[in-house]
Formats: sequence, structure tokens, C-alpha cells
Amino acid sequence: MCGISGATGAEKAGQIAFDGLKKLEYRGYDSFGVAMRTGSGIHTYKKEGKISDSKFKPMQTTEAIGHSRWATHGEVNQVNSHPHSQGSVTLVHNGTVTNYVALKRALEKEGYEFISETDSEIVAALLDEYIQEGKTPKQAIIAASSQIQGDNSFVFMIDGQEGIWAFNLGRPIRVGIADGVSYIGSDVQAFLEHTNIVNYLDKGDACYLHQEDRKYFSCYDGKEIKKEDISIDIEPSSVEKGNYAHFMQKEIFEQTSSINVSLDQDSVKMSMASDLIKYADRVFIIGSGTSHKVAMVAEYWLAKNGRIYARACASTELSSWMQFIGNESLVIAISQSGETADVISAVRGAQERGASVLALTNIARSELDEISDVTIPLQVGIEKAVASTKATTAQMAIMYQLAKMVDNELGEGLINLVDLSSGLSEQLNPNYIKHVEDMADVILKQLGYTENGNGDQIQKNSMIIIGRDILYPIALESAIKIQEVSYIHAQGFAAGELKHGPLALIEKGIPCIVLGDDDRTINEAVKARARGACILGISAQKHEVFDHWLSVPNRHDVYAIATLIPMQLLSYFLAIKQGRDPDFPRNLAKAVTVE
Ligand code: AGP
Repeated sequence: MCGISGATGAEKAGQIAFDGLKKLEYRGYDSFGVAMRTGSGIHTYKKEGKISDSKFKPMQTTEAIGHSRWATHGEVNQVNSHPHSQGSVTLVHNGTVTNYVALKRALEKEGYEFISETDSEIVAALLDEYIQEGKTPKQAIIAASSQIQGDNSFVFMIDGQEGIWAFNLGRPIRVGIADGVSYIGSDVQAFLEHTNIVNYLDKGDACYLHQEDRKYFSCYDGKEIKKEDISIDIEPSSVEKGNYAHFMQKEIFEQTSSINVSLDQDSVKMSMASDLIKYADRVFIIGSGTSHKVAMVAEYWLAKNGRIYARACASTELSSWMQFIGNESLVIAISQSGETADVISAVRGAQERGASVLALTNIARSELDEISDVTIPLQVGIEKAVASTKATTAQMAIMYQLAKMVDNELGEGLINLVDLSSGLSEQLNPNYIKHVEDMADVILKQLGYTENGNGDQIQKNSMIIIGRDILYPIALESAIKIQEVSYIHAQGFAAGELKHGPLALIEKGIPCIVLGDDDRTINEAVKARARGACILGISAQKHEVFDHWLSVPNRHDVYAIATLIPMQLLSYFLAIKQGRDPDFPRNLAKAVTVE
């Protein structure tokens, strides 16, 4: 979501909103839309598909709002795209209105008709209804806030009344401040090239923006709120692709420095974090998707290095363990975005039972950061590719460091991580990258891929990844990476589990990636090979069971991170060799802000 009021003189608000959307496109790219206020009313343009592919020509105007959509309610089409208009109100929305059916029924009785399948259009009607009743826009926001359930944020314009209104009922809204102009966005990136001075709207805050007139008030009682002007320190060029073909590629290579940067933490905070772990009665480590796999890796490190029994849990599954959480417990919440609704909801549930929360997140002032007792920032810069890479390895590095601190071995931990980090530039040399690319070619050949330009040419859509010990969650994470950018059905297994079922999947030529070279893992690889699998080893030592092999430098007990990096690169090549755009995988969004 983004918007602008008062582009002085130049009247380029539509263009600025459109450019802002391009910056946010990685967060949702099913469709997009821009509403522009002109002398003849509000004009809305909506289009299915990617913003960067569109030929949209914005109108000359001084106010505009825009939205890039990741579909929740209703299929991907132009009608369901935002902005939505009802009566005088044109609105964009992030989140999910959980009671939208009841609101819709009531509004239909009042004569409202809906053309989209979205919950957003219903809120446009709700606000319009209050305005038609004679309420001011501020009173309409207060009335609507008491009706709307779920975590949401809204930005809207009213026909015939200048200015932009916004309210935060649980999803981020940031206001950008400049002379004569106000910007708005669900993320500062929407306006970062124009200003780095920001007001943050907290949950329950609303605002009215008209050029440089900015008024903040509570959604609940309308009381005025004072906002602090915060200067944020993100270099706009750091969030561009530069010379790289894709953000995913850029972010994989940034790991040659980002792991090191993530280690440069406030020592007081790190001590607080390790004490929280040490003295908790129970430790739960939660995350979603890739961040959940980091939690699993951390579970091993806490057991091995910290001698702490911790339970890694997908954030959506924590509810089944709530009865074990009390005021002596710790939840470690891992989330790149700090906005993942499933994580936030699990954290809030644990907090209701009195648990302390330690967060690892990349986004300062994200909801997770705000609600946690201690936050360790990842410090890797904005990660734009949907497929997480540099944030993942930073999360792992920090969790490893904490596990070593718990065991009073911080020094040794840091040496291992710095060794890993400094060796990465060497590991990612052109020769090595070529080997990774060759492995992608082998896999695609085994899967019967033929290049004919339509992107759907794989004959056998199945591959297996096995790993033991810490390499087991690395196998699971590698599978996620391959799935999300290449659409190949990759599945990770604990090496020893292969013979307990998955071995039945093995057919002649099925690629089986084997992470590690220890005897027990090799023993399982041998069984897969005996049944015809093509064995691709990713390990420190070459073994004769491997049909193909990619070396990984032996990096003590951070070997898991060193093993993941070539798997990220392999996923990237598996995507681009099939003509897929790894930065815009189908059906996914960078931050999943709905449950
Ligand atoms: C990562 O490659 C995935 N796109 C996804 O699994 C992601 O890790 C997950 O949605 C959680 O995101 P978060 O770390 O921002 O909470």
C-alpha cells in the first residue's frame, strides 16, 4: 500500500504512487491499482499481473493511493484488485477482515451492492455508510474501527474532499515527511527515495494527510496523538539490484559480508538473550517456512553447544503446546519480516500465558520487534527476494552464537563464524559457481527437462534431499528453496528415515541430493543408489557413491551454514534455467501478513 498527498507543483502524485508500488511489488504481485484525485473526481486504474510489466501512464494529479495485491479473498483478477470504491470512498487495504461476511450482510440490507469478492470493498462501503449518515471522516474511522475484526490497515480518499486518511488496526503504516508533501506506505521503501523522515503509526493510530498538514489521532476515541519524527538510515541504492540479474542472486552473494555484519551485535542485548535462554524453564523456538527451519537448526545447536533442551515448532503449531508455556518459559521467535501473522499470533498466545519473548528479525519497529522483550536485529539490509537467503544465514549465525554463549564458549563460536564468513568469498568463486550450475543441469536432465520455451517441460517432477543431524533441517530448508523458485517437487528427509517409506519414491534416475559424507548418511545414499537414484553429493569429502559431487569447505560446527549456501545457489539455477523469475515465484508473497 502506498499514497501521496501534495506533490508540489509538478502534480506527479500518480507517478510517485506508481513508482512506490514498484518498490513494494516484491511483497505482493498478483495485481495492482492506483487511484488518482483529479479535478473531475477520483480515477482508478487496476490491472492483473506485475507492475513492472505494465504500460500504465499516470494522470497529472496531486493525490494518489496505490496497492499491489497478494490475493486472499477472491481470485486474481482486475475486479478484486485494489483500490475499491463504494459511494464516496476509495480504499486500499492490507490484512483480513475476519467478520466480513456479517458486515457484508448488514451493508447489503442498507442497499450496498458489491462487485468484488474481497473483504476490502466491504470496508469501503462501511466507511461510506457512516459518511452518508453525516459523520466526519474521523468519526467514520472511529465507528468503523469498533466494527472491524482482525489485523488490518486501510488507506482511503473521499471524493470531493482533499486529503488521504489511514488507520492501523494491526498492520503497519508509515508516513513519510517532506516539505509540502506527505507520503504513506505499508513499508518505508514506498517513499524512501523522497524522504527518510518517518512517523510510525502504531496499532490503533489513524492519520489525515494533506500536503504538509498531518494529523494523528486514536482510532478508538479520536484523541490527538503526537508523533516523533524518526530518521531512518537505509541507502535507497542498497535496495536496488545493481549489476545482478535478480535480487535472489544479489542476496546470495551478499552473504560473503552479511554474516559478518550480523555478528556485530550489542553485547548487552546478546547477554540478556543468552540469559533468557539459560534461565527459562522451557524454550520454544518458533518461525514459519524457512524461519521454522532455522528454528530446527537452532534446536540442534542449543542441545549440542548450549546443552539446553529446546523445542522447535512451526508457529502455527505452537497452540498445541501452550499448556506447557508459563511465566518462566521463553519463546524465541524468528522472522525476517517481523510481520508474519502466524508468528505474531503464536507470540501473543505465549505472552498471554506469561512467557518472555526473544525475537530475531530483520525489520526494526516491525510488530514482532515491538511486542518482544528483547530483539536481536539481523542487520543484513533489506531482503527483497521472496526466497530468503541472507536473512536465513544471519538468523542461523546469531542462534549459533547464542548457543555458544549459553555454554560460555562465545570466543570459539565467533572464531568459527568469522572463519565461515571470510571463507565464503573464496567458496563462491567463478569455478565453484560453474560446478553448482553444472549440478543444476544434471538435475534438470534427470528430470527430463527439455527447453522449448514454455516453462513446463519437466517429465518427472520429483527429487529428494537427505541429511542427518543438523543437515536434516538444512535438507528441509533446501527443499523449500527449490520448491519456491523452481517449482520442482523437492522433499527433504532425515537420511535414516529414507528406508522407512520414502525409498518407495525412488525410480531410475530420480535425483537424490545427499548432504554430508558421514558413514551413516552414506549408508542411506547407497540404498537409494541401489534402487536407481542419481546421487548428488554436497559434502566436504567425495565418496564413490556420488554420481556427481560439489565440495563444501569443512567449517567446524557451522558446516550446516556452509552447506546451505550452495543449495541456495542451486535453487537459483534450477529456476533461471527453466526460465522462471526467482524474484516473483507464483502464489507467494515476501511477508505473509494474514493467518
Ligand atoms: C522463505 O524462503 C520463504 N519465502 C518463507 O518460507 C518465509 O521464510 C516465511 O514466510 C516466514 O517469513 P518471515 O521470516 O518473514 O517470518
